[in-house]
Order: sequence, then structure tokens, then C-alpha cells
Amino acid sequence: MKYKRHLITAALPYANGGIHIGHLAGVYIPADIYARYLRGRGEDVVWVCGSDEHGVPITIKARNEGTTPQAIVDRYHEVIKRSFEGLGMSFDIYSRTTSPTHAETAGEFFRTLYDRGEFIESTSQQYFDPEAGIFLADRYITGTCPKCGAPGAYGDQCEKCGSSLAATELIAPTSAVSGATPVLRETKHWYLPLDKHEAFLREWILDGHKEWKSNVYGQCKSWLDGGLQPRAVSRDLDWGIPVPVDGAEGKVLYVWFDAPIGYISATRELLPDRWEDYWKSPDTRMVHFIGKDNIVFHCIMFPAMLKAHGGGYILPDNVPANEFLNLEGDKISTSRGWAVWLDEYLVDFPGKQDILRYVLCANAPETKDNDFTWRDFQARANNELVAVLGNFVNRALVLTGKYYNGKVPAAGPLTDYDRDTLAELPKLRAAIEGHIESFRFREALKDAMEIARLGNKYLADSEPWKVVKTDPTRVETVMNIALQITANLAVAIEPFMPFTAAKITRMLGTNTLGWSSLGRPDLLPAGHTVTNAPELLFEKIEDAAIEAQIAKLEATKAARAAAVTSVTSEVEPQKAEPQKPEISFDEFSKMDIRIGTILEAEAVPKTKKLLKFRIDTGIDIRTIVSGIAEHFTPAELVGRQVQILANLAPREIKGVTSHGMILMTEQPDGKIVLLTPTEKVPNGQTVN
Ligand code: 2FM
Ligand code: ZN
Repeated sequence: MKYKRHLITAALPYANGGIHIGHLAGVYIPADIYARYLRGRGEDVVWVCGSDEHGVPITIKARNEGTTPQAIVDRYHEVIKRSFEGLGMSFDIYSRTTSPTHAETAGEFFRTLYDRGEFIESTSQQYFDPEAGIFLADRYITGTCPKCGAPGAYGDQCEKCGSSLAATELIAPTSAVSGATPVLRETKHWYLPLDKHEAFLREWILDGHKEWKSNVYGQCKSWLDGGLQPRAVSRDLDWGIPVPVDGAEGKVLYVWFDAPIGYISATRELLPDRWEDYWKSPDTRMVHFIGKDNIVFHCIMFPAMLKAHGGGYILPDNVPANEFLNLEGDKISTSRGWAVWLDEYLVDFPGKQDILRYVLCANAPETKDNDFTWRDFQARANNELVAVLGNFVNRALVLTGKYYNGKVPAAGPLTDYDRDTLAELPKLRAAIEGHIESFRFREALKDAMEIARLGNKYLADSEPWKVVKTDPTRVETVMNIALQITANLAVAIEPFMPFTAAKITRMLGTNTLGWSSLGRPDLLPAGHTVTNAPELLFEKIEDAAIEAQIAKLEATKAARAAAVTSVTSEVEPQKAEPQKPEISFDEFSKMDIRIGTILEAEAVPKTKKLLKFRIDTGIDIRTIVSGIAEHFTPAELVGRQVQILANLAPREIKGVTSHGMILMTEQPDGKIVLLTPTEKVPNGQTVN
């Protein structure tokens, strides 16, 4: 490897909730595999992580619970840290952004950029909640979308039509904190002019890092092609790191300014005298493990900050962001409680950490969003871990105990088949290495499991339990080879399933195996003693355990639905949007609302939210774009009748011209409901 050392970072999780399987599959399991692999190879590795403890959602949660932000982050920092430990995350440090070292590091970082004239200072009008006495973050202001008229648009975006908005554009804005009508107040902030760094970023990423994963490269390209804007790096808030300049009372660093600096602070805490070797030497390779929603911050904003600092910081060599994991066909959501929480898993499945690690890696959303289901979890555990991996290791050890009282027999002359089998080991090692080094962990895990399959096949083909009666000397060779394969397996699976690897190594009575042993046919010398009483590596996951988990999820869904019903029936009248100004019948009749049938539906490329429809309106067949891709799959919409506003002026949305609008409403939990007629109506019928 051309680098002397490795700095690995994994996204700092927000300390306002626990860790769920989506976080694990997207970020922490791949990062842990990578760190363990490099350490196994004897590389100099530092892997840093910690809790992200600032930001508006934490203040809102504290407000809702009648406690302080500090109490919230203290609670979740502990939960997160403990559950990560339980799953065997091998961080070199798990820190937090409320640490004094971080306040100092982030404050100094800001101050350096400020002194170098890297910020633009600008005053603007922003919404202030007069009841709560705070300036409102965009996500905490809702109102009617000025573009499509949909209620419930956020201050930064309308989820209905997909338009990006400024909070000041919203019609009838309301504070989500207190329900008050916000007022505009003048406030000063500091902006990082990302546009100034655009040429550098284009060259560094678009020319210099074509090897990045296509989702990462593509997202960067579309940000850069769209043109970068100055980005505010301060906020009016009483929770965060104070902006360290005069005249900044009541202002703190924007959470996305301070959080990535958390990686630096954590390294400083870990290595107070040597942290700069990891951050400022071209001999260090930095890799950021993140989810896809963090790409812009790690590939555009943080690199621009590091560059602007001028202190010789290195930039990431790779940013292997993953897509998202869904749960039982539905998007994982902390606020909707739709998740499998790590701390609960560790209680419900004690000692089964590696099963979760295995399933989440085998099904990781590396190139597209993937789905976790409890049935798949059970099938993989029983058909792959129990039946393939556990079965092979158990057979090798049980037969060694039975025939040789736990002593490794000596290998005699090898047959061609023996040689071919052993020759697979270095090939599989090369394949695993290639895949890990290109961040294809699913493939790497498959290759590691191939070693167990190879072992099973070798035993099944060699039939030592039969041959022992006729040619006991041959069986000594067979069992020697089976044990060498077992030892190889322990090395190969360590990055993925460290608990199981440790168990195998313990049963083999050796602890000297490092990655460099992988591929060798002589890891256990003849005469070496292995356990005489092997334990099973995995137990079958019974139906009852899976059904209990499914029932738990269903209970969450039912509770959610009940809450929605009660919100709908009891609270909705207060929550309804204020009525819009009166209009005349003539004005109303200008709107041409009709019934149409969706003939075709497809995603608009390079967007997350937009679907493009071909709709038979009875007048014509036309294209309409709507921001509902996160709520429906194209397939479930084809054939549906919907209401459309037919005479809305055509609009260009992400390169597609939309000729009208599909009408819809929204449940209090955010679910979109299309206004399909209750019985079939001829296309083109008007709605009055
Ligand atoms: O998206 C998140 O969960 C953020 N807390 C990640 C922060 S990563 C880093 F920059 F700290
Ligand atoms: Zn809209």
C-alpha cells in the first residue's frame, strides 16, 4: 500500500436517538470491516467516531420533553456508545461534540477561517418565533407552497412538488415549535463562499477521483454542475459552539460546520501529540464512511473548509457512501418509530451480534436502496450461518476430536484434489482483498463464506467418516486439510464476524493468526491440540423469535395509526391551515380540474422525489411531474384515476416540462393520499 497510515472516519450519529439497522448497514458495519481488515494486515489505522450533539432537532426534543439539550445528548450518547460496543465496533475512540477538546478545536478552526478572510459576513431577514423567542431553522417553519399551493411545505422544500424554497416564500408560515406566526427579524451570519472553491472542487473530484462510487461521484457532479452558493456556517441558537468572534452573541456554529471537525477533535483526544500525523501528512489516507444524505457535506463542504483553513490538512481519498436500507418494505424512520434498534436487538438476541453483522453486510445497500426483512434475517442465519459456516467448523472439530482426541493429524501425500482445494485459499484471499479495498463488502463477505463452502465440499467429497474404516491414513490428510481450512476461515471472517472468528480461534487453540496467514495450508502444525468439545457457532433462529420481532413492528404501526386517528379526530381542527383569502366563483371556475388516468409512470433521473407521468386527461395525453416518488412506486400508480389541475401553466421541473398538477392531500404522519374517485369516471370529466 502506498500510504503509511490510515485515518478512517464514520459519520457521527446524532445523539437524539438510538442506532438502528439503517445506520449500521450504511455506515458502521462497512467501516468496521475496513478498519479490522487493515489492522489485520498490520497497517497503522486510526478509526474515529463520536456523537454529533449539536443542532436544532436536539433542542426541539429537549423542549418537547421539558428537559435540557445536555440531558438529551448525555442520555443518547451513552445508549449509542454502549450499543456500538455491544456490536463489536472497533473504534479507536468514540468521542462526542460536547467535549471541551471539540469546543476548542472547532472554535479555533472557525477563528482561523475568519482571520484569513474566508467568510462572507452578511445580514438577512430570518423568521423568528415570537412565542418561543428563537430564530427558526427552515425545517421548523411550515406553510403553503408558493409554487403548487400544497399545504405543509417546509421552509426549505415542498415535498409535494419537489421545489426548493426559501422560508420567506411560504404562504401563511407557521412555527412548528410553538404554532405561532413567525416574524421576520434582521440577523447577521457568516457564510462560507463555496462558489469560491468550485474550480478546485471540480478538479479535485471530477478529474481526480473518478474511482469514487458512482452514486458519490454523480451527486458531487450534480452539485457542482448546479453551481455552488455561499453557505451559512452560523445559527441563532443557544445550543452549540459559540461563534468565537466579537459581535456574535447568541450565535453558534452551524452543526454541519462543527460536526466534521469532530473527526479532528476525536483524533486530538486520542493522540494529543501525534494527531497531526493523521491529518496533515500526505502519507495518510483518509476515508469517510457515510450515508448518501451526507455526501455533500463530506465531499464539498468539509473539503472546502479544510482547504480554506490553509493549515495543511489532507482531504479524503475516498468517501464510500452507501444508499439507504428499508425495513419490511417501508422507509426506516426514527420519528415514526419504524426501525430495528441496536440496543433492543442486543437484548432480544444476546450473543448473536455476528448474525446481525452478517445479514446487514450480506444485504448492504451498496449500490441501491435495499430492504431488511426479519424472514430474510432468519433465512440467512439458518441457511448460511448455521448450515454452511457453523456446520463446516463443527464437523471439522468433532471429527478431529473423535478420531485424534483433538490433536491435529499430520498430512501425508496430497492428491490433486487436495492440492486444488488448498490452491483456492490464496485465490479467495486475493478476491476478498480486492473487494474490501474497493469497498465492495458484500462481495468480500461472499468470498469469505466461500471458504466454508469449500470446506464443506471437501469433507462431503472426501467422506472421512466412510474412508476411516478402509484407509485411516488418508483420513489424517483429509482432517489436516479440513483444519487448515478452518483456520483460514477464522482469519477471513474476522473483519465481518469478529465474535465468531474469536470463537473459532479459541477452539483451534491458537491466537497467532493474522491476515498474512490467510491462504496458507500450514497454519496448524501436526500435533497441535484443538478443542475436544467444540461448541456450536450458531443456533437456529426459531420462528417464534422472528414472529415476536414482526409483532413488535406491527405494534409500532398500530400505535402510530391510532395516534394518527386521534390526531385526525381531536386535534385536526386546530391544526388545519388558516383559510386562504376569499375568491369569487368566477375565479374558482378558472381552475380546470379533471379526472385522468395514469398510463405510465417513471422516476425522473437524478432526482429522489420526482415521478414523471403520462396521463390520459380525456383532452389529450400529457406529461405531468409530481414530487411523490418517495411515497409510491411507479408500478402501483399505473392505471389509477386521479384529479388533475389541467390548466396550470406548464412548468419546467428538473428538465421535464410538466403540463398540470396531480391533486392530493396528506395524512398528519406525512403519508400522501391521491384523490382517486370512488368509482370509475370517464377521463376528462370535470371536478366542480
Ligand atoms: O447525518 C447525520 O447523522 C449526521 N449527524 C452526520 C454527521 S457526520 C460528521 F460530519 F460529523
Ligand atoms: Zn409545492
